[in-house]
Amino acid sequence: MYTKSFHVTVVGTGYVGLTTGATLAFLGHEVTCVDIDEEKIALLKSGKAPIYEPHIEALMHESAGRLRFSTDLKNSIRDSQVSFITVGTPPKADGSADLSAVASVAKGIGQALCKDQRHVIINKSTVPVGAGNYVESLVLQGYRKTHNNGHGPEMGSFSVASNPEFLREGSAVTDSLYPDRIVLGSHEPWALEILHELYRPLLEQTFAPPAFAPRPAAVESVPLVTTDVVSAETLKYAANAFLATKISFINEVAGLCEAVGADVSEVARGIGLDDRIGHRFLQAGISWGGSCFGKDTQALISTGHEFNYAMPILEASVFVNERQRLSVIEKLQHELKILKGRTIGLMGLAFKPHTDDLRDSPALDIITELVKRGAHVRVHDPVAIPACRRSFPNLPVQYACDMNELAFEADALVLVTDWPEYRSVDWEALGEVMKRRIVIDGRNHLDTELLAEHRFTYRGTGR
Ligand SMILES: NC(=O)c1ccc[n+]([C@@H]2O[C@H](COP(=O)([O-])OP(=O)(O)OC[C@H]3O[C@@H](n4cnc5c(N)ncnc54)[C@H](O)[C@@H]3O)[C@@H](O)[C@H]2O)c1
Repeated sequence: MYTKSFHVTVVGTGYVGLTTGATLAFLGHEVTCVDIDEEKIALLKSGKAPIYEPHIEALMHESAGRLRFSTDLKNSIRDSQVSFITVGTPPKADGSADLSAVASVAKGIGQALCKDQRHVIINKSTVPVGAGNYVESLVLQGYRKTHNNGHGPEMGSFSVASNPEFLREGSAVTDSLYPDRIVLGSHEPWALEILHELYRPLLEQTFAPPAFAPRPAAVESVPLVTTDVVSAETLKYAANAFLATKISFINEVAGLCEAVGADVSEVARGIGLDDRIGHRFLQAGISWGGSCFGKDTQALISTGHEFNYAMPILEASVFVNERQRLSVIEKLQHELKILKGRTIGLMGLAFKPHTDDLRDSPALDIITELVKRGAHVRVHDPVAIPACRRSFPNLPVQYACDMNELAFEADALVLVTDWPEYRSVDWEALGEVMKRRIVIDGRNHLDTELLAEHRFTYRGTGR
C-alpha cells in the first residue's frame, strides 16, 4: 500500500494533531502523539477522543497497532525521523499569534535530539512569517542546552519545514484523507524527499479508503505545492483571510439586501454561477468564527503592521464580521422593542455544525450582548454543551437539554448554528410553549414556509 514507513511524533493532540496522527498511522507510519495534558493522553489511550469530530475514533481504531499516545516527548523524538508541531497558536491581545507553545515544543525537540540524529521538524501549526527561522533557532538552543558542548547537531542533520494544515473541523477526517492540496515549504532537498515519501500514499491516493470515509469520485491524486518556508507560512494565512473576506463580502451585501428589499440567497446564487466566483463561502449568515478565521486574519493584519504595510481589505472584513454578529440583536430589538427581562433561546453554541468547538463562536458575543441588555439567555446545542460548561463555567446562561426546554416561555428563538436537526423541529409544539412566536434565523437555515404555516414571525439574514 505504501512505499516506506516512518517513525513519526506528533506534538499536540487537538483537532489538527490528533487527525494528523491518526491519518499518518492509517497510512502505515508508526506514530506517537504527544501532549502535555495527561488527562487527554489517558483518554486517548483508552481509545476515546477528547474532541467531538466525526469518524476520528473510527480512524484511531483502524490504525490502533501503529498509533500510540504519550506525554514523553523526549523518548518519542529519539525514536522518530519526523516530528510535527501541532500545538495551538492563539491570538494575543494585539492580534499577533502567541507562539509560546510552539517555542516550548521546539526547545523540547532540540533537547531530545541525539547527536547527528537526522530529523525533519514540521511546523503544522499556523505560524506567522518567519516562524520557521524562529523554530530552527530554538531547536538549536535546546540541543545545545542538553549537549552542553557549544555545538549543535551538524547543520543539515535536522531541518525545519512548513506544512500548513487546511482541514475543517466537522470534516477533519475526510479533509485529511482527501485534501485539496498538500503544501510543503522547505529549502532542504533531503527533508523534502522524506516529506514526499511520508505523504506518498496520500498524494497518489494508493490507500484503501476506510468504510466511513469513502474516496470522492473526483479524487485520483492530490496536488503537491512545494515552495519555500516563508511562502508556505504566508499562503496559509492568505487562504483563511480570503475565505473570511468572501463571507464578509456576502454579509455586507446581505445588509444591503435587507435595506433595499432584495433576497441575498438569490443574489448569491446568481453571482456564484460565475466560475470565477463560485458558490462556496457565499452563504450570508451570522458571521464567521471558530479557531482559525478570526485569529489568522488578525495575525495577517498584525504581520502587515510589523512590516509597515496596511491591509485595509482585511481590516474591513473584520469590521463587517463584528457588525454582523450584532445584527441579530438589532432584529430582536426591532421585534420585541424591550430586551430587558425577555427570555431568548439560542439554537446552537458551536461556531458551526458537527463540532463542539466554541472558539470565537458568534454565540458567545450574542450571549454577552443580550445579557448586557438585561435579557435571560437559554441555550441548546446537540453536542457543544459539555465543552461550553468546561470552557466557560461562569457563562450567565441556562442550558436546555432539548428544544422544548429551550422554547418554554421564550420571547424569541435565535438560530445561531445550522445543525441539520434544527430544520426538523416541531414548530407547532414549540410555538405552543413560547410566549411569542418569533424566530431570528442567523443562517438562513430554516424552512420559512413551515414557519409561516405555524404563524411564526421570521427574520432571516439578507432576505
Ligand atoms: N482547528 C482547526 O480547524 C485548524 C485547522 C488548520 C490549522 N489549525 C492550526 O493548527 C494549530 C493547532 O490547532 P488545534 O485546533 O488543533 O489546537 P488545539 O487547541 O485543539 O490543540 C492543541 C493541543 O496542543 C497541546 N499542547 C499545548 N502545549 C503543548 C506542549 N508544550 N507540548 C505538547 N502539547 C501541547 C494542548 O494540550 C492541545 O491538546 C493552530 O496553530 C491552528 O491555527 C487549526
